[in-house]
Amino acid sequence: MNVLTSGAEVQAYALQAKALRNRTIGLVPTMGALHAGHLSLVRAARAQNERVIVSIFVNPTQFGPHEDVARYPRDLEGDCAKLDAAGVDLVWTPRVDEVYPPGYQTYIRVEDLENRLDGASRPGHFRGVATVCARLFHVALPDRAYFGQKDAAQVAVIRRLVQDLQFPLEVVVCPIVREPDGLAMSSRNAYLDPNDRRAATVLYRSLTAAHALYNAGERSAQAIRACLTDVLASEPRARLDYAAVVDPDTLLEVERVTSPTLVAVAALFGSTRLIDNIVL
Ligand code: PAJ
Repeated sequence: MNVLTSGAEVQAYALQAKALRNRTIGLVPTMGALHAGHLSLVRAARAQNERVIVSIFVNPTQFGPHEDVARYPRDLEGDCAKLDAAGVDLVWTPRVDEVYPPGYQTYIRVEDLENRLDGASRPGHFRGVATVCARLFHVALPDRAYFGQKDAAQVAVIRRLVQDLQFPLEVVVCPIVREPDGLAMSSRNAYLDPNDRRAATVLYRSLTAAHALYNAGERSAQAIRACLTDVLASEPRARLDYAAVVDPDTLLEVERVTSPTLVAVAALFGSTRLIDNIVL
């Protein structure tokens, strides 16, 4: 497994793999501190491409002024061991000053979508995500890029970005990987104290209750939303951010659940914000 920091070297690798050998490239963008959720994306990429590139970059532009980039968990050595074992060809660890050199001023905004769901509570977040992903795509030249359904709003933003800017790649979305008690795996789970860790299962419980209601025939989005907020309110440690029943592409609220619908929740446990979702 190669580990490179320079974008020029990564692009040379990608061009060689594609032009000389006609090999497909799967790219898995991450911020590191890898867990089984990330590794499920890597496995999918490994199964579908001749070359797999994983980027590890804690992207400063997607953190808000009150979110601490420096505190984000980092474990490059552990990550590389996991990726090597997973059969990854190349790990790309760009330096911040190469991605955003002095004088950098070009940003990509997916207007409207960037302000919905997580974008509403994290202004500027999706501008940072769209900008860095466009950059990763430009350099690594993937045929397929892998994202987790866990970040459903991010998936909507990336799909729109790829479509609007005509990136010649397929966005592959992989299912949410969960802990045995249902909590969606996340690097942020490490921030939870034991009480909040127990309380955090309320997110998935609220989604399961909504699913049961849907299975029982309920199609009113308002009723499903009320079910989510009732279950979330039963956990005093959870501070609700949003409980949404939306179109998965536009992220706009629906009135009735007729076509595939995204049911998404976000809540704070202490200062840690967690998200989860299901598709009905
Ligand atoms: P990060 O939070 O490291 O996540 C990298 C990828 O792993 C994302 O596509 C995310 O949805 C996926 N993922 C995380 N937890 C998952 C889980 N439990 N099950 C399935 N997939 C999961 O998302 C980012 O980084 C960044 O915003 C990034 C796209 C890298 C841009 O900086």
